[in-house]
Amino acid sequence: MLDAFEPYGWEPSTEQIAASLGIRPDKILRMDLNTSPVAPIASLRAISKKVTKIKVNLYPDTSYSGLRRDISDYTSHDADSIIPTNGADEAIDIVSRIFLEKGVEALASVPTYSYFRIASELQGAKYIGVPRLEGFEDNIDDLLSSINRNTGLVLLCSPNNPTGNLTPLKTVENLCRETESSIVVDEAYFEYCGVTAQPLLEKFSNLIIIRTLSKAFGLASARIGYILACAETVRLINKARPPNSLGAINIELARHALRHRDYMRRAVRDIVNERERLRGYLSRMEGLEVYPSHANFLLIRFKNLDANRVYEELLRRGIVVRNLSQNPLTRGCLRVTLGLKKQNERLLTALKSILEFLGR
Ligand SMILES: Cc1ncc(COP(=O)(O)O)c(C=O)c1O
Repeated sequence: MLDAFEPYGWEPSTEQIAASLGIRPDKILRMDLNTSPVAPIASLRAISKKVTKIKVNLYPDTSYSGLRRDISDYTSHDADSIIPTNGADEAIDIVSRIFLEKGVEALASVPTYSYFRIASELQGAKYIGVPRLEGFEDNIDDLLSSINRNTGLVLLCSPNNPTGNLTPLKTVENLCRETESSIVVDEAYFEYCGVTAQPLLEKFSNLIIIRTLSKAFGLASARIGYILACAETVRLINKARPPNSLGAINIELARHALRHRDYMRRAVRDIVNERERLRGYLSRMEGLEVYPSHANFLLIRFKNLDANRVYEELLRRGIVVRNLSQNPLTRGCLRVTLGLKKQNERLLTALKSILEFLGR
């Protein structure tokens, strides 16, 4: 079954990249992973004091009740209608497992997060990418006309990775109303914009929201995500989810971060400021189109230059960005994750010299 399957493009490790360039790993700047440039040190310190008391010989509480309470406090969603997961990716996996199978279709606005296709196809479902409009808005007419009685899931991403734009709530509402199939909204980057489809959960039982602590909370390595849905859907998902996919130490870390949210808010504010500052600079550079972003990354189109060459030149300087130029829908584009001011300055300086060098 996996013979013709195109897998996830695994990112090489920083050590591998450094070795291939012949430089030290600490000289590599990762701007390709959409993670936070800072770790929540206070949360790490706090749980390091508790770590010896964690009963690692036992399974964690299978109902994750403490973590659900803290997510509930953060989201104001009923704790009984929350499912913590091993990252948002596991949430996508579980939902796909429940709603997709051979003969069923998954719809998504493309380009979008590549794992949607993988999770769908691994279920044997047919993945249908509905191309976005110019400017990357979801094509609501094409989405609606592509829905039929075989549609098991509609996968939306807001803000969308890699384009950074939002799906308007009106679009989500339209889709929820017009179809009986489940509508997933992946809000991995929610904290960078504050816009959520959550209010629609009261009205539509077919809506499922997926979030993560991997981005704004700076906890990518702890692998904590969660699902917000209605009680009925949560009952269904609980039947199919693995009983113990979260580690006790990571649960503690997530709970501390959720209860001390000032750190996250400061980190988000800094990144959003940097995003707008960088967008201003980049937009003034000749031959670059920088798309507006509601997330922690920018999508940049190189209008006159080969984006592959820009990517290679950045890499040669130890700066890793995501090269999306092979995809016809993002031809000529690179995606850059915002870092700290100093890191963003390093990118700007490198880009300036590369554009000068390649433009000659
Ligand atoms: C839209 C989207 N969803 C989910 C994920 C994965 O999140 P997690 O680390 O929680 O599995 C990513 C990571 O890049 C993402 O961009």
